[in-house]
Amino acid sequence: MTPPPAPAMAAESDAVHGGRRRHVLLFPLPYQGHINPMFRLAGLLHARGFSVTVFHTHFNAPDPARHPQYRFVPVPVPDGTSGPAPAAIEDVIAQILALGAACESGFRDRLAAVLEEYSRDAVACLIADAHLLPIFEVTAKLAVPTLALRTGSAACFACFLAYPMLFEKGYLPVKGMSSDPASVRQSQRDMPVSELTPYRVRDLMVFLGDDDRGSLRELLARAVTAVKVSSGLILNTFDALERRELEGLRRDLTVPVFDIGPLHKFSPAGDSSLLRQDRSCLDWLDARPPASALYVSFGSLACMSPRDLVETAWGIAGSGVPFLWVVRPGMVRGSAHQEQELPEGFEAATRGRGMVVAWAPQEEVLRHRAVGGFWTHNGWNSTTESVCEGVPMLCCPYFGDQMGNARYVEHVWRVGFEVGGELERGAVEAAIRRLITGKDGAEMRARAGELKKAAEECIGKGGSSCLAIDKLIAHMTSL
Ligand code: UDX
Repeated sequence: MTPPPAPAMAAESDAVHGGRRRHVLLFPLPYQGHINPMFRLAGLLHARGFSVTVFHTHFNAPDPARHPQYRFVPVPVPDGTSGPAPAAIEDVIAQILALGAACESGFRDRLAAVLEEYSRDAVACLIADAHLLPIFEVTAKLAVPTLALRTGSAACFACFLAYPMLFEKGYLPVKGMSSDPASVRQSQRDMPVSELTPYRVRDLMVFLGDDDRGSLRELLARAVTAVKVSSGLILNTFDALERRELEGLRRDLTVPVFDIGPLHKFSPAGDSSLLRQDRSCLDWLDARPPASALYVSFGSLACMSPRDLVETAWGIAGSGVPFLWVVRPGMVRGSAHQEQELPEGFEAATRGRGMVVAWAPQEEVLRHRAVGGFWTHNGWNSTTESVCEGVPMLCCPYFGDQMGNARYVEHVWRVGFEVGGELERGAVEAAIRRLITGKDGAEMRARAGELKKAAEECIGKGGSSCLAIDKLIAHMTSL
């Protein structure tokens, strides 16, 4: 899809206030899946005339040299509260909670200094990731309005809102989940959650089950509070994808909701990748026939067991399908080096038919005509990036919102299907063939093509996302 004329370039003076450019302050959560949409938003607002100041932690810090048009303000945190990114999701949650708290005092000082320098009136607002509640609280105390960016789907945020109800009605905790997940009955996992159609219990954020530390509950409750104390919720989704869910959120929230996605189609890449993207894979794809290759990537955080890596590798090899596979350093639990991770004989078995890279320019890969399917963990960015290029998906969700996203892909948009159960090479082979060369896969690709068109309409002139952007800018300049 050719990016639409940036709505944006149209109105250079949108953010001018009293003859001065208005400043917007941003604070992303320092993980790849959260940094990318925040930087897209930065690009969009900058094009509308805002000066952009990005507060950030040293952990996963952006490289200011790659964004000379923005100002960067590092926020100090006490030693020991950041990095490296942990492998287990429970530890990532603990790290997010700790990071927010650790930033509080350093951010207060830095924000006060910035406000003094810019003058309070020249600052429109601060936009922070919804997972950074302490940042919202500090900012409110300094009388600066805030907006919350949630980088997941509208359905996912509805699930955040519903979390207390899920406990009250007995959907959660899933009994036995924390002690012995394998013992949880299929019927229990597949139970529909009628209040959150089409989710089943297994699609909820239940990976910690009845964990007594309650850190997941705390994380979600704090994100809900951040949105409620803010002056509005910005979502990286669009009307054609989640109309019903957006209507539900607008009913349940008193703050306005701005569905301005897909953000990556509104703003140039801006290079917010934390890992170096290996662009040689684009040349490799150039030599492939249309829709013939499978792209495989499990995002920036998901980790697999050594056993699953072996089944994945031999499933890919056995499928006979050309592939581009992202094997991220540290993606396999207990290993830090790509070379050690692939099973012996895999390279020889797939020579000339596949390419393995440590990190890819994913959006360009998905846009490439040679890519016929995406085996994904269904992080929200990956899901929307795939949808926007009309690429059908093989879903292998790991944690958090990924199960719910996979449910929408398979059941609502019908542009992919889940590789169910434990990964096993025979099932993987069959699933890959079904997606890339099967009749079923072709139908999913056709439906994905329709969604791509719908996305293009949303981002085109007068489309829902363009209108939402205009409303957002008007809102920001009225706060
Ligand atoms: C995390 C959670 O996993 C996800 O469920 C949540 O919605 C956001 O935070 P992550 O694992 O990073 O996200 O996945 P995803 O949301 O898909 O974001 C990954 C980003 O990295 C995408 O924008 C993708 O284009 C980019 N990427 C991925 C690359 O640039 N190169 C790659 O090789 C792989």
